Amino acid sequence: MPKLPSPPLPKALRPAPRRPGEPDEKQATTPIEVAADAGISVVDWIDERTSLSGGIRWMMFRKVPRGINWFYTLGSATMFAFLNQAVTGVFLAMYYRPDAAGGAYESVRYLTDQAFLGQLVRAMHKWGASVMIILIFMHMARVFFFGAYKYPRELTWIIGVVLLILTMAMGFTGYLLPFDQRSYWATIVGVNINGTGPFLGPYLSDFLRAGPEFGATTLSRFYAIHMMLIPGLIAALIGAHLYLVSKLGISAPPWIKAQEEPELRQTTL
Ligand code: HEM
Repeated sequence: MPKLPSPPLPKALRPAPRRPGEPDEKQATTPIEVAADAGISVVDWIDERTSLSGGIRWMMFRKVPRGINWFYTLGSATMFAFLNQAVTGVFLAMYYRPDAAGGAYESVRYLTDQAFLGQLVRAMHKWGASVMIILIFMHMARVFFFGAYKYPRELTWIIGVVLLILTMAMGFTGYLLPFDQRSYWATIVGVNINGTGPFLGPYLSDFLRAGPEFGATTLSRFYAIHMMLIPGLIAALIGAHLYLVSKLGISAPPWIKAQEEPELRQTTL
């Protein structure tokens, strides 16, 4: 296997140590140099104890096949959309109250009309959800049409399918949270549709409602699923997905043919 070129990062991080008694010529003098040195020392300090830079280099400095194009950025774009949801969601949770007796609706109204930048953050979360769904489908379509799900990437695809289901479950559980008329009735319809599924359907709708009736605990259940259970699962599965992407390497586009090595060509049987 050809050796990977060494990335520029570690060299900059590890200047040759000064020998004992040697004058310290490179000693930082200006405040900017001192600040830069401090940063390098902190990163070095952590790396000496954890060796994390090896893992980061393994993940970031990979060879990619010839011919890859913009369609290969869709997975990273989906991840960026997820990060946007996570960050904006934390700020929304600082104001949101999962109280079915009017508190939830009021807290969202306060957040939208009064809280500093609340409307912006809420809109980023709401539009970001649609963006994430669109991107995940586009990423899946790229993987499908390029045949990138084939051996040895089947497990990457299977994890992707679970990520797709979880992402849609995020959309479904998040829709109830503003607790206005539209979200309330739409969720009742959605839960009833779930209930019509074969065998597991009735159990699933009971689980979602937190009982046989749509009640106050339904909202708490949706909130817990939306902000703790599924995001944790998605984060862990994205980690596994990216580990496999790094381990197996990215697949070449189907129209790129492997270069022929003349000396390997079989001439006699
Ligand atoms: C939260 C959702 C997802 C994230 C953040 C994500 C992220 C990524 C990233 C960053 C890559 C690297 C290459 C690229 O971007 O094309 C990738 C590759 C891949 N993804 Fe996803 N993905 C997600 C969902 C999915 C889904 C829904 C599927 C399919 C059902 C899928 C299947 C794959 C496969 C098979 C590869 C390997 C492609 C190759 O080697 O060319 N992913 N993913």
